[in-house]
Amino acid sequence: MLADVIDYLTCPVCRADQALDGNVVRCARGHAFDVARQGYVSLLTGSGVPGTADTPAMVAARAAFLGAGHYAPLAARLRESASGGVVLDAGAGTGYYLAEVLRPDDAGIALDISKHALKRAGRAHPRIGAVVADVWRPLPVKDGCVDVLLNVFAPRNGPEFARVLRPGGTLVVVTPTPRHLAPLVGELGLLSVDESKARRVQEALGAHFAETGHLIEESDMRLDHRAVETVVGMGPSAWHTDPVALRREIVRFPDPMTVRMSCRISLFRKIA
Ligand SMILES: C[S@@+](CC[C@H](N)C(=O)[O-])C[C@H]1O[C@@H](n2cnc3c(N)ncnc32)[C@H](O)[C@@H]1O
Ligand SMILES: [Zn+2]
Repeated sequence: MLADVIDYLTCPVCRADQALDGNVVRCARGHAFDVARQGYVSLLTGSGVPGTADTPAMVAARAAFLGAGHYAPLAARLRESASGGVVLDAGAGTGYYLAEVLRPDDAGIALDISKHALKRAGRAHPRIGAVVADVWRPLPVKDGCVDVLLNVFAPRNGPEFARVLRPGGTLVVVTPTPRHLAPLVGELGLLSVDESKARRVQEALGAHFAETGHLIEESDMRLDHRAVETVVGMGPSAWHTDPVALRREIVRFPDPMTVRMSCRISLFRKIA
């Protein structure tokens, strides 16, 4: 709930501390933000929502696919990698991984630009507070209050991640490897990941973070046609794929078929 994380939030207008006043998040200077019926609050200022926000259809696909447990090995690995405390998930989506990582006394901030995703994230765990915000703008989060920052298949803002993370805190970044979703990527012409992705992530964070370790999480999933359609529908290729044409392609595949899940979990420490 927002009450669990309100102490860590700042006003996106004036950076003052926030307090929860009934169904309104209000800063010390009086800027007010309504809490939505579904429990999330938008701390986005201005009218523009970036075009990268997951759509309701993508969110529904993501919830169905993750709910079926196909990425459970990744969630379990993240739980081992994240030590707890105040956990911020930047680009949290439906809050699936954040909910898996939180321990009983932790607090979880689910931050995403998609309110459709956050409707679910706010309900994914009792100690998650869900906040609409743009990762590319100053995060509405206090300096140095975050113990673990999760970033799973989502955009990264190195300077802001460094600002909100406490000294000694951990940034956990998950990115797909070039083997992720083989053979679907080749067969369906989905957006692919090249070999230099991990290096580019490091370079983008390099001014503020040093990688302290990484591991590759890989497993084979048995997916029926419906699940294949769902995994395509929840990913970035959904922006470029016609669902009818996609279905026509998928019927050619074995049912079920083996699809690889392969991602890199990178752990970073803030450079002092
Ligand atoms: C591929 S999804 C991953 C979601 C979640 N981490 C997961 O793995 O289930 C990418 C997420 O980033 C969010 N996103 C895209 N652009 C964003 C931005 N500028 N600021 C915050 N979130 C953003 C999308 O709305 C979406 O929920
Ligand atoms: Zn304010």
